[in-house]
Amino acid sequence: MPGSVLIVDDEKDMLALLERMIAEERDYEITVESDPRRALARFREKPADLVLTDLKMPGMDGIALLEAVKSMRPDTAVVVLTAYGTIETAVEATRKGAFDYITKPFRRDRILLTVDQALHWRRMVRENLELRKALEVKEGFASLVGASPVMRRIFERIRQVAPTLGTVLITGPSGTGKELVARAIHQHSRRSDKRMITVNCTAIPSEVLESELFGHVKGAFTGAWKEKKGLVEEADQGTLFLDEIGDLSPHLQMKLLRLLQEGEYKPVGSTVTRKADLRIIAATNHDLKTAIREKRFREDLFYRLNVIHFELPPLRERKEDIELLSRHFLAKYAAVNRKPVTDITPEALGVLQAYDFPGNVRELENLIERGVIFSRGSRLTVADLQLEGTEEAEAGVVEDPHCLPFREAKERAIRHFHRRYIRRLLEEHGGHISRAAESAGIQRQYLHRLIKEAEIDPAEFKSRG
Ligand SMILES: Nc1ncnc2c1ncn2[C@@H]1O[C@H](COP(=O)(O)OP(=O)(O)OP(=O)(O)O)[C@@H](O)[C@H]1O
Ligand SMILES: [Mg+2]
Repeated sequence: MPGSVLIVDDEKDMLALLERMIAEERDYEITVESDPRRALARFREKPADLVLTDLKMPGMDGIALLEAVKSMRPDTAVVVLTAYGTIETAVEATRKGAFDYITKPFRRDRILLTVDQALHWRRMVRENLELRKALEVKEGFASLVGASPVMRRIFERIRQVAPTLGTVLITGPSGTGKELVARAIHQHSRRSDKRMITVNCTAIPSEVLESELFGHVKGAFTGAWKEKKGLVEEADQGTLFLDEIGDLSPHLQMKLLRLLQEGEYKPVGSTVTRKADLRIIAATNHDLKTAIREKRFREDLFYRLNVIHFELPPLRERKEDIELLSRHFLAKYAAVNRKPVTDITPEALGVLQAYDFPGNVRELENLIERGVIFSRGSRLTVADLQLEGTEEAEAGVVEDPHCLPFREAKERAIRHFHRRYIRRLLEEHGGHISRAAESAGIQRQYLHRLIKEAEIDPAEFKSRG
């Protein structure tokens, strides 16, 4: 099996011992270096797949070496050797991206096992990277992934409709990927070299939105000092993505209808009609049929928008996507956070597949991101996911081959308790923080801090009208 190992230790005897232990059993290409600075220079010139380094060394310690190596080549596997007294530092090293640590004194089989695993990990990372690149070239959907029949059909239709100019309506619950689909359509269209401009119709008050979209002439209203181009003009020849279209005011619905029907509009305060050449994609997570029945949305506009319709189902209705999405996010956040996680345990996948994801893909993405950040080792475990309601997560110990260090296990359990408790508390009080704090018998400021630490958004619990 190919692979190169750079061993760094200031004690020459130790270097010789390690080299012998590995070379007697394996065919790896081994280099040894007793001075960490020289080791780094050597690595810069000829990077190794695995760096096996001592922690305490004069001149530059193992952590500094780890950081330097990782910043040069994030996909290098680094294993640190640690004496009994420095385990804390070793744990710290795994947080900083070390693949693993080995405590001294060690046995030959432990060294060999870890070296093999680290090199295997390194190969996986490289293959994953190449595989992803290959897929992107082949499928052309860089960031939109899916394996379920529904998603495959969606990819197929994106390819069919993208080159046309047909108006597209994308519906589906929050977090199901509507914006990504819009982007994919734009990227596969003949207008991909032009811009796609996104406008969130909810976020902007109606009057402001009108002049944002259509522009205004000088003196159109107080404060309109000079003429301003609208986004419709900015998106000329490109794509205009109108997000949350269900929230558009009646007046703007009318203007949009005209734009769709005649390809014409008037800037605010202007009497001159302008022509627009753009493709419109609209999205909403509201049920437009209901809005039409309740006279909040124009039926004629709906039919104009609904020429090509994409419906994105909730994640729980396409469980086949969960594994692929999880691996996709795992690779993404492992790279971003420089963590050596490349795989997910079957148990953790099982937990994800059993979960119903009210926040859909966005929630899965957040879950994996957090899991990667707290993970130690090369596989994401149930404990890492910290999903409410799984007792294993609470214990924070089960799936790991050995118990976590006591302090870490305890911290995890406490973090988990905080999250669960605060969510229940906020739920009970509809996201009202003062009331929640009072009923829990704690200070409001303290509750604020806990909410922040647990990364909870209190708005999520506000009762919806
Ligand atoms: N099929 C997918 N493949 C990869 N990532 C996805 C997929 N679907 C959604 N995501 C990710 O999930 C998150 C939410 O997606 P997006 O913003 O497109 O959802 P949305 O339907 O527009 O949600 P909302 O209605 O809340 O605006 C994004 O970070 C996006 O990258
Ligand atoms: Mg969106």
